[in-house]
Amino acid sequence: MKKNIDWSRLGFHYTETDTIVRSHYKDGRWSKPYLTQDKTINLHLSATCLHYGQEAFEGLKAFRGADGKIRIFRMNANAERLWQSAIGLAMAPVPTSLFREAVLLALSGNIDYLPPYETGATLYFRPLLIGTSPRLGVGTAQEYEFVIIPSPIGAYFKDGFRGTPFIIDRTVDRAAPLGTGRYKVGGNYAASFRATEPAHKQGLSVIFVDSVHRKYIDECGAANFFGVKDGVYITPASTSILPSITNDSLMTLCKEVGIPVERRPILVEELGDMSECGAVGTAAVIAPISLVIDPDTGRTYTFGEEPGQVSKLLYKLLQDIQYGRSEDKHGWCDVIDN
Ligand SMILES: Cc1ncc(COP(=O)(O)O)c(C=O)c1O
Repeated sequence: MKKNIDWSRLGFHYTETDTIVRSHYKDGRWSKPYLTQDKTINLHLSATCLHYGQEAFEGLKAFRGADGKIRIFRMNANAERLWQSAIGLAMAPVPTSLFREAVLLALSGNIDYLPPYETGATLYFRPLLIGTSPRLGVGTAQEYEFVIIPSPIGAYFKDGFRGTPFIIDRTVDRAAPLGTGRYKVGGNYAASFRATEPAHKQGLSVIFVDSVHRKYIDECGAANFFGVKDGVYITPASTSILPSITNDSLMTLCKEVGIPVERRPILVEELGDMSECGAVGTAAVIAPISLVIDPDTGRTYTFGEEPGQVSKLLYKLLQDIQYGRSEDKHGWCDVIDN
């Protein structure tokens, strides 16, 4: 039954759908994933996810294409990253086949929440993996719950594709070099709120620096950083940032159109030599950066609200693949006729 949703009013907030998908891990095996209206959990208050942070999640989108078909973008890559996060926190990993089955089930059970093509809105999936066994002593769970929570979300750029301001933070370490920064786990976000919440109150997003030297650009809000310097797409090489699937896709597209790519540590002051820069992730593809304030040096690097040429080109190239307007040469999309 078609839902009475005003797609243009959706933001990046949770809109409840009919069902979610769940699977439970017990005695070394995952149960068959199933659709359910039950979105709550009867969880022991000593569960490891609550006490010892055994929690990992993902984020991916389904798009209604220009040709009417549905495309889920890079589902296998998200499955692989959740696997890595699970290993990173010593949790039971979710096999790719189970991940795929669960996402496809979440889509089929909530197809009426997939926004129409013209709206720019999408159906977002939030896979979540938690340790559910009660434990008082520090240790890992024997039982786990894997869920997929779907939610329609609005177009990211409601007022057009425009840049937003950022601030460098050297007062908070989001993640340690060999810690959990490369995994998509709740603890990283909890660790960053001390910096991001005050910044957001001033209308700013945060760029974190490396936690050893505090001079290299690390994570860029809940996204990866890229900048363009002398026509080269540069993005941080760091063990404490999430390997962004969007960034990986953009680097592939760069190579295709002849834009050289460098992955290396990036000094904060190199911002002064960049013609444009942005934050890349599933939510926006590219959120162009209009300016970066460095409170410790008093410098402000200004790029302007108008996105740069490379940002505009890459944004279009990737969205064209996601919406089925151009050939998906890399097999990034699972295409569903419906
Ligand atoms: C901390 C962090 N870095 C980077 C990204 C971008 O990753 P992806 O492109 O896979 O969405 C995200 C999520 O969107 C994130 O939460």
